[in-house]
Amino acid sequence: MPRKSLHPSPTGRPAFDLAKFLETRTAAVNAALDRFLPSEQTKPATIHRAMRYSLFAGGKRMRPALVLAAATACGGRESDALPLACAVECIHTYSLVHDDLPAMDNDDFRRGKLTNHKVFGEGIAVLAGDALLTQAFEIAAQAKGWPRYSHRDLILEIAKASGSLQLIAGQVADLEGEGKKTSAAQLKYIHERKTSALLCCSARLGGMSAKCSPAQIAALTDFGYHVGLAFQVIDDILDVTQTSEKLGKTAGKDTKAQKATYPSIVGLEKSRKIAEELTARAFAALRVFKGKAVALEALAEFLLKREC
Ligand code: IPE
Ligand code: IPE
Ligand code: MG
Ligand code: MG
Ligand code: MG
Repeated sequence: MPRKSLHPSPTGRPAFDLAKFLETRTAAVNAALDRFLPSEQTKPATIHRAMRYSLFAGGKRMRPALVLAAATACGGRESDALPLACAVECIHTYSLVHDDLPAMDNDDFRRGKLTNHKVFGEGIAVLAGDALLTQAFEIAAQAKGWPRYSHRDLILEIAKASGSLQLIAGQVADLEGEGKKTSAAQLKYIHERKTSALLCCSARLGGMSAKCSPAQIAALTDFGYHVGLAFQVIDDILDVTQTSEKLGKTAGKDTKAQKATYPSIVGLEKSRKIAEELTARAFAALRVFKGKAVALEALAEFLLKREC
């Protein structure tokens, strides 16, 4: 059933070309990541091959897109936001490499290819994740700092979102929730931390690179939080409704592993409704941008309707 567009183009304004935006920004992010990372030949070559294998395996680059779109919404330059976009993608990719390990979700496929540990072995996959995490901070330190948002602020932002109170806390609760009866409140706790924290951080970093105002950072925080929650609800739904080919990762794994997910707790239809409500909340947060956040709006709608 076609769903109503949350982002109707007002008369006189051309519709935002999100496909073009994603294509060009993905290319820019990939080129920048290629410059930031040591080459495959750099010794020890195995670790650099392993880092690049997962980083360039073809992810959707949604977090970098959020960084860049948030920067534009705040009147900033994308070139100032680019290192931060690369940094969050390194954090995200590290989290996937570790998430796929046999000791965690034990997945054989990621981004349409064999997982890192399947190709390089578990030891190197652990180290490739460690190195990508560290690389993120090395890249972020090379971003421009401002009096309003210093390097200290940028580094703290990334460290907090990916640390033991946020992303890691979510991953811990996700593992500990396997096979257990989970309440809706506990599931929200997991999703807020394992996924929403980094998406929220991405939107905020974009704003920070643009020296955004306190009202703008508050709006980006509200937006990122809700888009981030919707993102994981959709991820849970797609695990049930899509094929492995389409997802580029093994479908149906959450049910097998008895993971706490929205479809398993409230059912598919209710999960879809929740994702729509969260996206509507994200849209509402963008009001302060008075029509200047077109890329963020288009991204939120795309994330809700995505099929992979
Ligand atoms: C997958 O993230 C992991 C989650 C937090 C749900 P993405 O769906 O953004 O994965 P890639 O980057 O496109 O591979
Ligand atoms: C992954 O969540 C979250 C992080 C890696 C932080 P999932 O385990 O649901 O992601 P997929 O489904 O493997 O991509
Ligand atoms: Mg997981
Ligand atoms: Mg997983
Ligand atoms: Mg999942």
